[in-house]
Amino acid sequence: MSKITLKDVRKHPKVKTYIEKANEQMDALGYTEHGSRHAGIVAGVARGIISRLGLGEHEAELAAIAGYLHDVGNLVNRNNHCETGAMLAQSLLASIEMDPDEVATIMGAIGNHEEESGFPINAIAAAVIIADKSDVHFSRVQNQQPITFDIHDRVNHAVQKSYLRVEPEEKIISLELTVNTDSASVMEYFEIFILRMVMCRRAAERLGCEFKLVINDIDL
Ligand SMILES: [Fe+2]
Ligand SMILES: [Fe+2]
Repeated sequence: MSKITLKDVRKHPKVKTYIEKANEQMDALGYTEHGSRHAGIVAGVARGIISRLGLGEHEAELAAIAGYLHDVGNLVNRNNHCETGAMLAQSLLASIEMDPDEVATIMGAIGNHEEESGFPINAIAAAVIIADKSDVHFSRVQNQQPITFDIHDRVNHAVQKSYLRVEPEEKIISLELTVNTDSASVMEYFEIFILRMVMCRRAAERLGCEFKLVINDIDL
């Protein structure tokens, strides 16, 4: 077992550059923020899910690393960014001599994080899926002109607060959102989030939990 931690990964000179470049490409395409802010949040939340559920600190560290690197493939192209991201992670992690078994786990988690072809193949992949899909917040909107907001901008812009609650005893993982319904209707929210929520439910099941979505204190 290697002792590579998220700290080592973040210190890797290429990691910062690649994540920044990936976000530049997403910004150019008009997407919400997919840079080091998103990477850091997904890493922290994925780590929290695994450790709160008592699945071990080593597994939690792997989830954090997978979470941090999950969107790095966007620097190649948004299409197939899971697959390219897994390959980029492989070379980054191999260069700091991470154990191949751990690298393989991380590659699988990155390669399975999107709704089109992803599946919660193991607990780490499941944690990354939930952490990624629950990062919805007004601070992710990079478009400076509200007049040109697309549905993703509108929905993210409307979310004032988002919190992922993990209750290990009750075996419930809830995404709690405070949504300003003036800027996005709950319908719009569902239009883009239904597939993500289905994926979160599946991922929660993989972790032996039920997934709940709570919007403005209403349990949906
Ligand atoms: Fe992604
Ligand atoms: Fe992401």
